[in-house]
Amino acid sequence: MALPKIISNAAYSTYESQLEKEVLAGPVPGHLAIIMDGNRRYAKEVLQAEPREGHIMGRAKLEEVLGWCMDTGIKVLTVYAFSTENFNRDQEEVSFLMDLISQALRDFADDPRVHENRVRVGVLGDPSMLPESMLEAISYADERTSGYSDHHLNMAVAYGGRQEIVTAVKEIARKVKEGAMDVEDITEGTLSGHMYMSSMPDPDLVLRTSGEVRISNFLLWQMAYSELYFTDVYWPGFRYIDFLRSIRAYQQRSRRYGT
Ligand code: IPE
Ligand code: IPE
Ligand code: MG
Repeated sequence: MALPKIISNAAYSTYESQLEKEVLAGPVPGHLAIIMDGNRRYAKEVLQAEPREGHIMGRAKLEEVLGWCMDTGIKVLTVYAFSTENFNRDQEEVSFLMDLISQALRDFADDPRVHENRVRVGVLGDPSMLPESMLEAISYADERTSGYSDHHLNMAVAYGGRQEIVTAVKEIARKVKEGAMDVEDITEGTLSGHMYMSSMPDPDLVLRTSGEVRISNFLLWQMAYSELYFTDVYWPGFRYIDFLRSIRAYQQRSRRYGT
């Protein structure tokens, strides 16, 4: 027999605070990367609504999750908001998402929490694929937060891991051609230094929602030794307890780096 809702809610919140206590007592990832997936399935299956309703809720979820990261002491949050391949969706969905992400960037730049916690808000991806309105929103967020470095929120927009590597290789090749660099001096560090987020540490934990167990061209270079965590919940339905579970799973891993 199912427990009455009031009892199950109380049990749930006791479990949540117990888990929170455990998680906060351990080391949290310095850099968390999230593949925010499942917006359209959430809209269809849970809301019985149009896909855009899922995207709107997904955007709100990101605001919530940024708060959880700041509260638990996670310094860097990188989220996959729009891939290079997502441009192949219907034009209407693409422009809706471009507007939604631009507005989210502007709202983050104006968010008092972002200023209190000194969060630098930035974007990684191929700017040549982005509309002017998005480029303006990126500049706005950059102007308003460029002085901060206590926390980072990096939004991957028009981002593709392979594309990022190709761009880095082209830049390095150009330097070699101009005589500014010797081929023999190219190291892993050289490649890392030419990635979009060259000043950030690699992600410690990469989390994907929605039940898909794949990387979909996210941070291919940077996740060589990241811990991976997959959860079945759709992104708009991702709860604080799911977040805590992912951090606890991370804390239980043994990172050996091949040794
Ligand atoms: C993630 O949700 C958001 C983007 C990729 C832009 P989806 O739109 O991929 O939703 P699903 O995975 O099809 O449910
Ligand atoms: C990955 O999700 C990209 C983002 C979350 C922005 P997709 O929904 O585009 O990936 P696939 O198609 O399931 O691999
Ligand atoms: Mg998807």
